[in-house]
Amino acid sequence: MAKGHKFGGDWTADKLERVEKYLKAYAVIMNKKQFSFAYIDAFAGTGYREEKKILDKSQLVIFQETEIAEIEQYSEGSARLALEVNPGFKKYVFIEKSKKHFVELQKLKGEFPDKAKKMEFINADANSYLLDLCNNRKWQNCRAVMFLDPYGMQVEWETIKAIANTEAIDLWYLFPLGIGINRLLKKKVEDIPPAWASKLDNILGTTEWRTVFYRATSEETLFGAETGFIKDADFSKISDFVMQRLNSIFSGVAKNPLLLRNSKNNPLYLLCFASGNPRGASIAIKIAQDILKR
Ligand SMILES: C[S@@+](CC[C@H](N)C(=O)[O-])C[C@H]1O[C@@H](n2cnc3c(N)ncnc32)[C@H](O)[C@@H]1O
Repeated sequence: MAKGHKFGGDWTADKLERVEKYLKAYAVIMNKKQFSFAYIDAFAGTGYREEKKILDKSQLVIFQETEIAEIEQYSEGSARLALEVNPGFKKYVFIEKSKKHFVELQKLKGEFPDKAKKMEFINADANSYLLDLCNNRKWQNCRAVMFLDPYGMQVEWETIKAIANTEAIDLWYLFPLGIGINRLLKKKVEDIPPAWASKLDNILGTTEWRTVFYRATSEETLFGAETGFIKDADFSKISDFVMQRLNSIFSGVAKNPLLLRNSKNNPLYLLCFASGNPRGASIAIKIAQDILKR
């Protein structure tokens, strides 16, 4: 696969650059310690990301004006970026559900032969695999950085809880704030279809959002007062709620999660960091907060 050069500036690149910075800092610190430590990429993708780039005017000179000034390019995805970190991790766990992406992902073994023996590839649903990994393995002498980078609302709260319970994992979580939660929160709570409400319960791990994000109203109509619950939640309120949920189970949570917006300035995701290890959390949070600064 041709490796395109990386154009900066977009939110995906921004996200990956920040996680990559943390991986570098983490690996330097952990290589001086006695722990076995891993990088766990639970929505690993293919190892590269495909993106379309609209060329700017200075690049247009090589194109005829009639040609579409857009090119497809490949940039490094999270799995490949993690493998490029040196000094490296003791182990790499790559989880990917799609068979097609998984086949592509495994080519990383050939690309990084010196690290091939340290890589584990899992073709499974991230939630089921992580529940087993977190709940049924001994974590006392192990540490890990985990990256949850789903497209949407795939990660269940039970999974996040299991990750926190290991007290050994530092978590980067791309929370689907705009593309997920906010879209499901209809203006009136009673208009939310049951399947959506249950999705919100699953991702937030509570039913409390109904009272936090909605307030009671009463409207005078011809037939008397009509009562109901209307949405009273903007992106900042939803973010605060997500932070509060993470704070309730992790040893530490970075106070400045990063709101990632698309080119039209619409909020898409919230990049959050949480640390599960009571002893390591304060330094981990300090590093992550620094990386998350604009
Ligand atoms: C946003 S992409 C990941 C991009 C990757 N982190 C990168 O930087 O290249 C999300 C990936 O998660 C996979 N996926 C979706 N649902 C999943 C699930 N339940 N468990 C594991 N992987 C899943 C998709 O097939 C897709 O490859």
